[in-house]
Order: sequence, then C-alpha cells, then structure tokens
Amino acid sequence: MKELKRIASLVGGLSEIEFKVLETIERFADIGRIATPDTIARSLKLGRDYVDRMLEELNRRRLVWSPRGRGREYMLNFTGLDMLALHSVSRRGILTHIGVKIGMGKEADIYLGRTGEGNVVGIKFYRIGRSSIKKHRRLRESSLEAANYLVSSKLAAQREIQALRILYPEGVAVPAPVYRNRHMVVTSIIEGELLVRLDSLSDPEALLQGIVKSIKKALKAGVIHCDLSPYNILVTPGEEHVIIDWPQWVRPSHPNAQDYLRRDVENVAAFFKRRFGVLSSVDELIGWVLRSVGASLTDDQV
Ligand SMILES: Nc1ncnc2c1ncn2[C@@H]1O[C@H](COP(=O)(O)OP(=O)(O)OP(=O)(O)O)[C@@H](O)[C@H]1O
Ligand SMILES: [Mg+2]
Repeated sequence: MKELKRIASLVGGLSEIEFKVLETIERFADIGRIATPDTIARSLKLGRDYVDRMLEELNRRRLVWSPRGRGREYMLNFTGLDMLALHSVSRRGILTHIGVKIGMGKEADIYLGRTGEGNVVGIKFYRIGRSSIKKHRRLRESSLEAANYLVSSKLAAQREIQALRILYPEGVAVPAPVYRNRHMVVTSIIEGELLVRLDSLSDPEALLQGIVKSIKKALKAGVIHCDLSPYNILVTPGEEHVIIDWPQWVRPSHPNAQDYLRRDVENVAAFFKRRFGVLSSVDELIGWVLRSVGASLTDDQV
C-alpha cells in the first residue's frame, strides 16, 4: 500500500520539547483550563521567549490556535491532538504507518493504518464539535468550548472501544478492537459498503434478520447501540453485516433503554421496507429481540 506514510517521520518533524508544550496545553484542556505562554513556561521550567517561539511554530503548523489573538491563550487543534496520539502509538510500536482517509462522518475521520505487527487497520479520530469550533474561530471566542470538544472526543473514543471490547468477544458483528489513545480508536478494517449505499441485495430478508440478531446479541451482552441506521452498518461483498460507530451506546438499565432499542430496530426495519420492500412488524421484531435475552431493561446489567 504505497500511500502509507511512516508515522515516525510524520511526528519526527516535532521535537520532544514541542510535544511537551502540546501535552501541557492538553493537560490544561483536560481540566477545563486554557494555557497561556506564562503558564506553559512555568510548568515546563522554560524561558518565556523560548516558549513563545515554539508556540509560534506550533501555530504556523496549525497544531494549536490562539482564540484571543496570538500570544495570549493557546488551545490544541484536532491536528495537534492527532499528533499527540500518533506520537504515543508510534513510540510504543503499536502503529507504524498511516494512510489515506477512507471515511468521514459528522464527528470523525477514518484513516487506513498499519500496526507494528504489519496488520492493516482502521484509525478513527473523533472530531466532536468540529463545525461549531469553526464558527467559534470566526468569532474568536469560547476556547473553553473548544477544550470541551477535545475532552468529549476522548470520551467518545473511550466509550466506543469499551463497547467493542464487550461485543467483539461475544461474537457480535463489530470491528475488532485493537487499541485506543486519546480521541483515536484503532480497529480492524471492514471491506464493504455502507448499507445505505446499496440498491440491491441477493437476500434482503436474511440481512435484516441477521442485523436484528446482532441487536439481540448486543443486548444480551449489555449494550444498546442508540444510533443504529443504514449509515452505521457496513455490508461485505458476501452480504455479511458489521455494525460500526458505537460511542453513544447505553446499558439496558438506562432509563430510556427501551426507547433507544425501539428506535434502533425501527430505523433498520423502515429502511429495509423503503429500499427493498421487506415488510416486518417492529413490535414483533422487538418482541423477538427481548425474548429470552435475560436482559431486563430496568435491572442493571453489569
Ligand atoms: N472499521 C471500518 N472499516 C471500514 N470502514 C469504516 C470503518 N469504520 C468506519 N468506516 C467508514 O467511515 C465512515 C464513518 O465512520 P463512523 O460511522 O464510525 O463515523 P462517524 O463520524 O461517527 O459517522 P456519523 O457521525 O456521520 O454517523 C463510515 O461510514 C464507513 O464508511
Ligand atoms: Mg457513523
């Protein structure tokens, strides 16, 4: 795969001390604070001029931005956070290469990558709030909001890998979890097409049944997707499905669990009806999902 770039050379463009500056800004963001050149200089025991020059350089590379004008406050950009995550996984030998962007959603970008063991994987970088950040940037305000988005992106990644680590060993059709760092989730790559893009299937009924079976298996394992739709289901050339994009999952003990489960089943059933003319009763499907699962939607599962 010739488009794969070595992560080591990508992050090698930054010195260790520049990474320390990025980490310092990140630590502040993690606790809802904004770093200033003074606080960075103090916490790293460096001269203010030296820190200013580094911040200029990081700003030029668009790894940080200064919401209230240069020289005052500094916040990480998503690319800055990407570099921190890539630096960490590259140093540990977990990932060696990153390739082309293979997917882009509202809240994440997905790239091809290669692990230290030579496996091709998917690397998902969360970008929660990226459209709002652009708006704020225009207004030059609310760097705290931007900090919140970075924290939310890390939380989303944590939630997603947590779901995959529960579901994959239970045999639910999800990507295999590999690793997480910050807002970055590494999983196996699925060769396939989004369900929403398919106009014909050899056996749509069987695919719908398979997906509902996965919903049931996931429920049994204590997980409800909560954002299930034909945009979050990949279909392989052999017409096997894989359910992706799990950051918003809840436990069956969640007060709205039943509504979320219903919505997931409804979204899928409605799509199969619209696109492939498959008629099904949502009530019957849900009844079947709940039957003998042993998961009461009101009792705490795990
Ligand atoms: N493991 C994977 N293997 C192959 N392609 C993937 C994988 N994960 C994601 N993709 C591709 O990337 C796209 C975006 O992924 P995903 O749905 O996880 O992100 P998202 O940003 O949360 O999407 P949205 O918020 O728009 O639903 C998918 O539609 C799919 O085409
Ligand atoms: Mg999605």
